[in-house]
Amino acid sequence: MGKVYVFDHPLIQHKLTIIRDKETGTKEFRELVDEVATLMAFEITRDMPLQDVQVQTPVCEANAKTLAGKKLGVVPILRAGIGMVDGILNLIPAAKVGHVGLYRDPETLTPVEYYVKLPSDVEERDFIVVDPMLATGGSAVEAIHSLKKRGATSIKFMCLVAAPEGVEVMKEIHPDVDIYIAALDEKLNEKGYIVPGLGDAGDRLFGTK
Ligand code: PRP
Ligand code: URA
Repeated sequence: MGKVYVFDHPLIQHKLTIIRDKETGTKEFRELVDEVATLMAFEITRDMPLQDVQVQTPVCEANAKTLAGKKLGVVPILRAGIGMVDGILNLIPAAKVGHVGLYRDPETLTPVEYYVKLPSDVEERDFIVVDPMLATGGSAVEAIHSLKKRGATSIKFMCLVAAPEGVEVMKEIHPDVDIYIAALDEKLNEKGYIVPGLGDAGDRLFGTK
């Protein structure tokens, strides 16, 4: 069963409060999403495997460590996921970036796929799928289906705010995918928005409303 990690780091919680505030403008919203993504990436990469190496310091030869294991791929769910990519690349600049384009049909709330482009060596990478919001779970479930269909076998999902409904759906449909969340909120409202949430993440990131 996929594990669910809710980050309680004070910096993440503080920044998320400003992100939630409806008075926070696009520029600050975007900067803070970027910063929180970096902080979350720091936590999410805690289990990366290391290998022993020798390094020649100015003083002597030393036993040291470097990253080992599979290469990373970051996959934002368009559009809002784009806001989290640079924050992750700050820490892992060698990661490749794929894209899955989905939007929620406003009537049915079901995801509609319009774009997929992934690194060519999908089977060989560990993926982090990112989206600020996990609401009904439809978009995340569909994006992860899309990756698996193309050969991905190792996937984590990272979001800022999740509704319990979305977490349950993910655990049921993708039990192999661990979920990393900055805040687990109360519920969804009748329009499928997370309560209390932060509103429409895409619109707030890109200033489209
Ligand atoms: C938002 C958000 C997620 C999705 C979450 O995207 O960024 O992708 O809704 O909702 P769900 O869990 O119920 O699927 P939206 O469809 O508004 O598209 P956008 O990113 O282009 O604004
Ligand atoms: N998508 C958003 O951007 N916000 C929500 O609260 C739910 C889905």
